[in-house]
Amino acid sequence: MRHKVTITVNGVTTTHEVEPRLLLVHYLRDVLGLTGTHIGCDTSQCGACTVLMDGKAVKSCTVLAIQADGAHITTIEGLASDGQLHPLQEAFWEHHGLQCGFCTPGMIMASVQLLHDHPDPTDEEIRKGLEGNVCRCTGYHNIVKAVKEAARVLREQPAAVSEK
Ligand code: FES
Ligand code: FES
Repeated sequence: MRHKVTITVNGVTTTHEVEPRLLLVHYLRDVLGLTGTHIGCDTSQCGACTVLMDGKAVKSCTVLAIQADGAHITTIEGLASDGQLHPLQEAFWEHHGLQCGFCTPGMIMASVQLLHDHPDPTDEEIRKGLEGNVCRCTGYHNIVKAVKEAARVLREQPAAVSEK
């Protein structure tokens, strides 16, 4: 039996009928075509599927679409606005916080939450805040640098935050 869900994703509200077992990550990728949210494991370990659900970072492979009924979701596609990259996207770009880029959408979405919780984070707070996100390529050093730089920009220009 299918269930009707109404979910607001990146500011757009739609209703679909879904299987009760459909995961939020598959809803985003396969139903809405938002493939910026990645799937890197099937064990809830990698964090590549991280999105914001009602403002909190969640691994979207651990949430059923029906559990997101009525929720507001922000994916990596919702961060940039009017052609302007979010300061985190800009900083990952500038500080080489990515190589293959597979982990990057999840890293950035987890970092949004991290910077809400710690607007002026230490290296240790960044590493702790991102411990649920795995990167095979970068050694994490440049990711930490990128998050610190984005934190600085966001403290100086809070209006730069535009996630929907
Ligand atoms: Fe969700 Fe790896 S795909 S944690
Ligand atoms: Fe390749 Fe992180 S940049 S997995």
